Amino acid sequence: MKFLCPSATLAEGASLGFEQDGARVFAVRRGGQVYAYKNRCPHRGVPLEWQPNQFLDPSASLIQCATHAALFLIETGECVAGPCAGQFLTALDCHEDNQGIWMTPEESEDDV
Ligand code: FES
Repeated sequence: MKFLCPSATLAEGASLGFEQDGARVFAVRRGGQVYAYKNRCPHRGVPLEWQPNQFLDPSASLIQCATHAALFLIETGECVAGPCAGQFLTALDCHEDNQGIWMTPEESEDDV
C-alpha cells in the first residue's frame, strides 16, 4: 500500500488524479467511500479526465471519459454508456484509515 493523500484532500463527490510509480491512477469519493481506478479508458487506453482532477460527469454521479464521453459507475467502474459499454475500468485496491487514503498501485502497465 502506498500513501495517496490525507482524507480531507478528497472531498465528497470529488475526484483526484495521481501518478504513482509512473502509473496514472485516480480516486473518487462517493457516499463517504473511496474508489480508485487506473486512469485509462477501456475504449482507447487514454486518460479519462477533461481537466486536471476532473473525472466525473456534470452531475458528479458517474465517471466520464473526456474523449468520447463514455460513462462509468463510480462503485464498480462498469461502463454503462458509450463505445466501451459493458467493459470495466481497472479497479485498484485502496483503503482509508486515520492517516488518510492508501492505494495499491497496479503492478504492470501492460496494454490489452
Ligand atoms: S477513449 Fe474513452 S470513450 Fe473513447
